[in-house]
Amino acid sequence: MLRVAVLASGRGSNLRALLDAIRRGDLDACIVGVFRDTATAGARAPARDAGSAATHVDPKACATRLDFDRALFDRVDASGADLIVCAGFMRILSPEVVAPRVARMINIHPSLLPRYPGLHTHQRALDAGDREHGASVHVVIPALDAGPVIAQTRLAIEAGDTAETLAARLLPREHRLLVQVVRWCGERRLRFDAERVHFDERLLTGPLAVD
Ligand code: GAR
Repeated sequence: MLRVAVLASGRGSNLRALLDAIRRGDLDACIVGVFRDTATAGARAPARDAGSAATHVDPKACATRLDFDRALFDRVDASGADLIVCAGFMRILSPEVVAPRVARMINIHPSLLPRYPGLHTHQRALDAGDREHGASVHVVIPALDAGPVIAQTRLAIEAGDTAETLAARLLPREHRLLVQVVRWCGERRLRFDAERVHFDERLLTGPLAVD
């Protein structure tokens, strides 16, 4: 069974979606650890509900960013995870910790990458007059939000949409997208590195689509 570590900074709804799918029997995986950089409740509740504590690694207790990243990944490695999922993890990670783990670390990002890496993605899509928005799951590489995109979910932008309404409509799609990609990982259908993604042993020329 696929052993998954989840890194989360915020409310943890993507983590909860993974846990719910596992509980329903829709996802053959186990969450071996939840790792947070924030002391706020957020992802602690879903982790606790699933019977596991969320490990808090406090950036303020570390002298440098790299010290924090090493402390974090020492714990992640100790969990024995096969796959590391950044699910609303809002810190930029050092190349030193990312590079050795590229083939087993993914991130969910709320835009149709390569559009809008970074923050405020919903507002930026609106400001640009886009007719479509979405979310991506991509391979984590040292450059921010720049790894090969594995899969995307898309939605139409409607007249009157705000950043808030877009985010709210996108979130359930994000959940389905992330669960599906983790499922594919568990089924060993996905293989990736810093440059390319293979699905069923075929090189992907564009992201897989998830509704
Ligand atoms: C999600 O929308 C996720 O795509 C986004 O943060 C939110 C976390 O929600 N991630 C990023 O912006 C990463 N750059 P959650 O804590 O409820 O899962």
